[in-house]
Amino acid sequence: MGFNENHVQHYREHGYVIVENFLSADELSRAREEIETFVPGWLDYAANPTGQRPTGWDQPQRSRRAVRFPFRGKQLNAITLHPELRRFASLMSGGEALFCEQSDLTYKCMGHYGDVDQPMHLDYVNHTLAYPPNQPKYWQTAFLVYYTDVAAHEAPTAVCSWQHYKNEILWPAMYQPEQRPQLYDNEVKVTVPAGSLLAYSMRTFHRGTAFQAEGARVGHFISYAPKGPKWLGIVGWPEQGVHKSFTAWMEQATLEERELIGFPAPGDEYWSDETLAGVSARFPNMDMRPYKY
Ligand SMILES: [Fe+2]
Repeated sequence: MGFNENHVQHYREHGYVIVENFLSADELSRAREEIETFVPGWLDYAANPTGQRPTGWDQPQRSRRAVRFPFRGKQLNAITLHPELRRFASLMSGGEALFCEQSDLTYKCMGHYGDVDQPMHLDYVNHTLAYPPNQPKYWQTAFLVYYTDVAAHEAPTAVCSWQHYKNEILWPAMYQPEQRPQLYDNEVKVTVPAGSLLAYSMRTFHRGTAFQAEGARVGHFISYAPKGPKWLGIVGWPEQGVHKSFTAWMEQATLEERELIGFPAPGDEYWSDETLAGVSARFPNMDMRPYKY
């Protein structure tokens, strides 16, 4: 479970690593229980694609609330801030204080609007306002956790080692097969058992592939960035602040977990009589003692 030295070395050499059975059996089964409440029927359909498709299977989610951090329940939130994901991202960013910039559940099946044979691309175009340099202090690490088995016909992610595009300015950030066939010729398909993950970077070409047969896939995008640069990140967590589950998560989170999504740390100059009273009013079950200046 987690990342070992070989995983770290593979990531440094190729810009990605596949870790089979990253989650414990317990973490996986608890995550799957929660997923069943957020997107009912998808896990059963993934396990048995000759059966009934989930109700409304091709309807876009009316709201991102059920499929974005903080989730109702505990396990997907715990996986979002998993100590091993944090350790790995921290290692890659040279120990910079981190910001969790993304935690989105993703699910699709054959014929779903998400069932697309994507072109090879880099993710930085919607993860930074600038460009991702080859320097730890700006390093963003992306993870894709798989909650269902992914066989070759079940839309595996494809990834191409950065050995094939070393020492170049990474623009364009997308290539069609005919534009750069070697990216496709050298792609590796991420076929893994449920509970596995792919770690990659903003400098790693990859793509979603299409379903080749009936089936479904449920996964989870989780990304980390160094906390300092304001030009890094895909979402603003305050957007989630109107939801009850956001308040519930904030109240029970540890200080460190709150900081990982950008909340002011104890000792920050933000804290004053007014902000202590105001934050306490907004989050009545939050223990404010550590923030007393
Ligand atoms: Fe991507």
